[in-house]
Amino acid sequence: MEEDVFIPVEKTRFESHRVTENRPELIHEIKASQKSRVQTKISVVDRLLGGGVVEGSLVLVGGDPGIGKSTLMLQLAEAFSAQDKTVLYISGEESKEQAALRALRLGIKTEKIYLFSETLFSEIKKAVESIKPELLIIDSVQIVYKGELPSLPGSVTQVKEIAMEAMHIAKGLKITTFLIGHVTKSGELAGPRVLEHIVDTVLDFEGDREHGYRILRSTKNRFGPTDEIALFQMGGKGLKEVLNPSEAFLKERIKDVAGSVIVPTMEGSSAFLVEVQALVAPANFSTSSRKSTGLDQNRLSLLLAVLEKRVGYAFQSVDVFVSVAGGMKIVEPAADLGILMAIASSFSKRSINSETVVIGEVGLTGEIRSVSRIESRLKEAIHMGFKYAVIPKKNSVGLPESITKNLTIFGAELVEEAIGQLLSRKGGTSTMQTKKVDYAGTTTTSSTS
Ligand code: TYD
Ligand code: MG
Repeated sequence: MEEDVFIPVEKTRFESHRVTENRPELIHEIKASQKSRVQTKISVVDRLLGGGVVEGSLVLVGGDPGIGKSTLMLQLAEAFSAQDKTVLYISGEESKEQAALRALRLGIKTEKIYLFSETLFSEIKKAVESIKPELLIIDSVQIVYKGELPSLPGSVTQVKEIAMEAMHIAKGLKITTFLIGHVTKSGELAGPRVLEHIVDTVLDFEGDREHGYRILRSTKNRFGPTDEIALFQMGGKGLKEVLNPSEAFLKERIKDVAGSVIVPTMEGSSAFLVEVQALVAPANFSTSSRKSTGLDQNRLSLLLAVLEKRVGYAFQSVDVFVSVAGGMKIVEPAADLGILMAIASSFSKRSINSETVVIGEVGLTGEIRSVSRIESRLKEAIHMGFKYAVIPKKNSVGLPESITKNLTIFGAELVEEAIGQLLSRKGGTSTMQTKKVDYAGTTTTSSTS
């Protein structure tokens, strides 16, 4: 038997929404006015949200602890207050002094940011009503709780309740609200996942803590595009926006080494270039290992199997490591051929021409399948000064002259064609040839390694 506790429903529950008179209306009589937006000074965030922060919207910012959520929010708070807007920052996790110290570190001097170190929701609500901020930041949704509920802060009940209240504050009082939420590794345990349907916009903050680069990704947006990203770099003075991701990712690249391939990848509507690196080394143990960072492990196994079957490379007694330089994650299959070429290049100890980009999805039979948005990808390659591209044959027909004029394109149908094209000559510094190249050269080297 379980005791059932009766919780008296308070009159004040969700009352923020009741300020306006409400009734059903005919759809064509409703004035669908454009939502007004606040431009932040951080241009990548504005673009990510579809042209600025929508007034009265509720945004959830999720991410691992220590990734930089509080830092970003404080920088956003500064951007708002610099435009003469009042900001209320609820820092439940840190004391006022700690938060103020961070503000000092970031060089924030504006006057209209209120800090409030509180975790009890009723107190927060009182503060909201008396200060009437234009921007409310709750850091974090997991630590704020309602005293009326018997469950612990951070439990599903509490987190949902707080998010519902935040929604009523955002909509009812027209206060733009940002909720910060921690994600556990598995994405569960009252993580922000349960809140996704309540909020207007979900931003995921990701990246390695060890790497300077942080990626803010919008996975849901009621007022703009999704799948956009904003790239930041964490430095001594907080987060700095990276306006040219390709340049940032290729900065530390060493040219003409085996195992390195440049891949144009898409994130939302923007294309940028990343370096995929592979290392094939003799295995020390009887079981060889395959490790990948920033790539799907299953995809790696598949590509290795294709290489073994189609090209005859022997991977039984070697370890294979593949990673995306700079801490990026690639999920799209359009990077398959690039990954495969990086492995082949390391395996055969031959470098690929450093002015080459590689695009293509690889199928189980070794065929190279066409990819979406080929023109955006190639344009970015041209923009970054690349000269050659190996792309799926289907994608190579009908490309505009602006691309073919600046880029020598080789359309490949099968993986062995691509390998023959890119690794055929010694040293790998061969210039592109438009005719199909025999790949016998590659197979002979593979037997010596
Ligand atoms: P923080 O914003 O506290 O992360 P979160 O709120 O997501 O838990 O910041 C995380 C890390 O960023 C912290 O380890 C310190 C580092 N950091 C810098 O490198 N530079 C800075 O200017 C600031 C403010 C923080
Ligand atoms: Mg924090």
